Amino acid sequence: MAMSRHTKVLRQTAPGTAVMEQVPIPVPGKDEVLVKVYAVALNPYDWKMLYGRVPAVPTVLGCDFAGFVETVGESVTRVQPDERVAGMVQGGNILRPDDGAFAEYIIAPAHVLLHLPESTSFENGATIPTPAFTAGFCLEHLMGMSVPVDEPVSTVNGQAAIKEAAREESMLLVYGGASSTGLMQVQMGKLAGMKVLAVCSKESFDLVRSYGADVVFDYRDAGCEQSLQDFTRGLVRYTVDCISDVQSAAICSRAMGAEPGTYISFTANGPEIRHPNVKSVKIVSFTVLGRTFSFGAKGPTFPVIEDDATFGGKFAEKLELLLRDGKLKPLRSEEREGGLTGIVPGLEELKAGRVRGQRLVYAVR
Ligand SMILES: NC(=O)c1ccc[n+]([C@@H]2O[C@H](COP(=O)([O-])OP(=O)(O)OC[C@H]3O[C@@H](n4cnc5c(N)ncnc54)[C@H](OP(=O)(O)O)[C@@H]3O)[C@@H](O)[C@H]2O)c1
Repeated sequence: MAMSRHTKVLRQTAPGTAVMEQVPIPVPGKDEVLVKVYAVALNPYDWKMLYGRVPAVPTVLGCDFAGFVETVGESVTRVQPDERVAGMVQGGNILRPDDGAFAEYIIAPAHVLLHLPESTSFENGATIPTPAFTAGFCLEHLMGMSVPVDEPVSTVNGQAAIKEAAREESMLLVYGGASSTGLMQVQMGKLAGMKVLAVCSKESFDLVRSYGADVVFDYRDAGCEQSLQDFTRGLVRYTVDCISDVQSAAICSRAMGAEPGTYISFTANGPEIRHPNVKSVKIVSFTVLGRTFSFGAKGPTFPVIEDDATFGGKFAEKLELLLRDGKLKPLRSEEREGGLTGIVPGLEELKAGRVRGQRLVYAVR
């Protein structure tokens, strides 16, 4: 088959600088897939890599993508050439400097690729992988809850609701409920039969409720901590803190502690909840990829954790079913012009905190 021998990639070359490069199209390893990228979505991680103090250079940036499978490695059976998929890689990883998603062709690990339903566009599909794998990792791998795939779902006011509610309801608190990860967490919490409380801005109340949250609290309200404490009486057993700063940890801590519980935060040096009943866990969901990685140029090296990678593969199969059956909604997105060359201005907007309640996506054709 006649195929372009080169691909454009967006590579970070210096602090705050990323340039378009032309490189040979890579060849997939035995458990990998070559994907022709049709759309990418921006994550906060991408701007943190580009503008980090000790950047990992030179590395290709980007994590979330969707496109067509081009070729597969010799051990790959999950996907076939020409199938529509979305997936996740880790850009900005100095240990694997060519891995980023901001490219025309990329190599991706096969086990975490998601078949996209025909009704899901590449742009919508690209919004799913990192937030969905992160939320699933928290809910199933760390909390031990389960998102069922075989139960009928009814729709109430546009929200998915499991018909059979016989299981015991436990409370899940999602701090940063309007973030992409938060919205996936809210949806999965509801699918798992939990009562879901979310903390977000007042402007995002309707959005977060539309993804299933039962009760919402405004983090800009001076009475937020107290309201949360009054409502929960400290009985929240699971908290996912998508913001993970001093304020979020302080607010979350007021909702926990009356029962044994788990507080999950997203930053390696973020705050913990100090309570004898509460276990604080810090996660990096890139471990589902099954690849070694590092943050920045001199960050610690994270080894492969087989258990996490195995979870990633199993959860990918579940995600595909949830997407196929319409039980899990993609995130809202705004398509920006310019393809790969438009991405850096988008990352600047993310860094400035101007992107709220949606993903920025770019067509790569
Ligand atoms: N460790 C990991 O494995 C992992 C995985 C995924 C993401 N992350 C990290 O998790 C964070 C969220 O990522 P994301 O992609 O989900 O974010 P995102 O979609 O970019 O989140 C944007 C939303 O965050 C909300 N927000 C901003 N500041 C807030 C605050 N102080 N309190 C509460 N909500 C606030 C805003 O909603 P409002 O309208 O409510 O203000 C905004 O709509 C990022 O720091 C990301 O790097 C870590």
